[in-house]
Amino acid sequence: MDWSSHYAARMGRMKGSEIRERMKLIAAADLIQLGGGLPDVSMFPVAAIAAACARILGDADLAGTALRYAPSEGYEPLRGWIAGALTRSGAPCTADNILITNGSQQGLDFAARLLLSPGDLVAVETPSFIGALRAFDAYEPRYAALPTAVGSRPPAGARFGYIGSDFQNPSGRTLSRAERLSLIAACDDAGVPLLEDGCYVDLRFEGDPIPSVFALAVQAAGDVEAVGVLHTGSFSKTLAPSLRCGWIAGPSAVIRKLVLIKQAADLATSAFTQMIALDLAEGCLDEQVARGRALYLRRRDAMLAALRDFMPPGVRWTRPEGGLYIWVELPDGVDGAAVAETALREQSVSVISGAAFFPQDPQRNTLRLSYSLASEDAAREGVRRLAGVIALAAGATSPVQR
Ligand SMILES: Cc1ncc(COP(=O)(O)O)c(C=O)c1O
Repeated sequence: MDWSSHYAARMGRMKGSEIRERMKLIAAADLIQLGGGLPDVSMFPVAAIAAACARILGDADLAGTALRYAPSEGYEPLRGWIAGALTRSGAPCTADNILITNGSQQGLDFAARLLLSPGDLVAVETPSFIGALRAFDAYEPRYAALPTAVGSRPPAGARFGYIGSDFQNPSGRTLSRAERLSLIAACDDAGVPLLEDGCYVDLRFEGDPIPSVFALAVQAAGDVEAVGVLHTGSFSKTLAPSLRCGWIAGPSAVIRKLVLIKQAADLATSAFTQMIALDLAEGCLDEQVARGRALYLRRRDAMLAALRDFMPPGVRWTRPEGGLYIWVELPDGVDGAAVAETALREQSVSVISGAAFFPQDPQRNTLRLSYSLASEDAAREGVRRLAGVIALAAGATSPVQR
């Protein structure tokens, strides 16, 4: 059987994520990992998960609930907990406004499934999270850039706009309050819904928190039921990605439509992992978040210091106030993909080429670095080696020491 002649048209657009391919290399012992934005394993609350499992499985009623199919909407007490957290963040809502998803990635997929038909226009920041682009690709959209500077307008006819407001993956950039308010007003005016990715919002280690676009939009609309923004969140970066426990929040009528999609996709997220997540959310989450912030702040500072010390002239980078990523712009004409390839092959340093984060017209002289995995010493050594590769590619003879 020639299977390739049987694949649906949409498969022609589906390609692997460079990041997920790179993740397979993580096991290589001598590799300095400055690529994938994976939470550090030292962050996983192993004892708390073990205790939560024992509590759940040690109680016949809870065990029965944990091992049955969960409702498609999600485990009610967890939906309530998330609604409480969003309410405290300035977006008053109830469990009816929450759908639990298999990680926030599934929320991105479902939102696109709800809103996109083939050929529709979707507006995304450039660069944008590669996982979102791959999820949207399956619905065969066209892409346009979503400008976020104060006073800008969304592209005409966009079915929705996708944004990462805090410490965006990959740029590390955070939208100011003024940019958020302007974006909400412009999208409201143009009738363009927004999909806000809140994956990193808890990992702020510097500066004052800014209310999410979702919260600001709920405040502007006066009621979550009237809001034009959907908001995804996740326990992946604060508890453990393997729990595959995320959520999407929005008006209850939209959530009910998303529940139909959830039913068709996989019936429900595992009740067991939702119960573990709730146990941890009520127990050690605050402590986890504090530990994560402290660790990633130290590692960001080490990486910024190494960039300052080793990068040749003409290289620029962002200074994130949270999250896991630094975006690097190389001198004009230096290809980030070639640099990433050489760094991996010759220097055992893994970084991600920035071009993969553009749906079209990639800016090729870019790289995404992550400080989540490498120790401070390893990151410094990795950046030193990377700087050597960049200096050679830029035509210089050796890295500049300052
Ligand atoms: C911006 C962003 N959104 C969503 C996700 C998906 O995360 P999860 O499905 O584990 O919640 C990631 C994962 O890295 C991400 O970086």
